[in-house]
Amino acid sequence: MEYNESEFLFETEVPENELIVSRTDLNGIITYVNDTFIKISGFSESELIGKNHNIVRHPDMPKSAFIDLWDTIKKEKKWNGNIKNIRKDKGFYWVNATISGVYKDGKLVEYKSIRIPLNNQEKLESQKKYDRAKINNNEKLRHIVYK
Ligand SMILES: Cc1cc2nc3c(=O)[nH]c(=O)nc-3n(C[C@H](O)[C@H](O)[C@H](O)COP(=O)(O)O)c2cc1C
Repeated sequence: MEYNESEFLFETEVPENELIVSRTDLNGIITYVNDTFIKISGFSESELIGKNHNIVRHPDMPKSAFIDLWDTIKKEKKWNGNIKNIRKDKGFYWVNATISGVYKDGKLVEYKSIRIPLNNQEKLESQKKYDRAKINNNEKLRHIVYK
């Protein structure tokens, strides 16, 4: 996909009093999104259900973050971390996500993610951490590096 650099500039603030919720099957295909997810991501429900959750993956996120996420949840452990996501309009929003299993009769059937806002300091620290991860893994950075 071709990106226009200026399209990345606009941040959508995540409200304090709402949670952004989604669920996926065991392969990361979206099975459920709540209204707040729809509102903040700018996608409609039908554009999200049945799609890979990487539909909201932002190019600033290093591969290592998601390797750690999947390693953790596949072991049936809870993962918590900060994620920069991309909106349909190519803007972005930061979240703190807690991802864990959904169980039916004691069996892992899906994964769920519950997301809350970050403050500006947390966003800056996460941006720096992910820039460093990209540099360490020779992944391409598309913006000025925050040191
Ligand atoms: C329940 C659940 C929620 C997820 N939420 C996000 C998310 O909000 N943003 C994101 O980029 N990836 C999310 N992921 C990770 C994606 O599945 C995917 O690994 C990631 O976007 C990287 O894409 P890739 O694996 O195609 O490189 C989530 C995964 C699960 C299981």
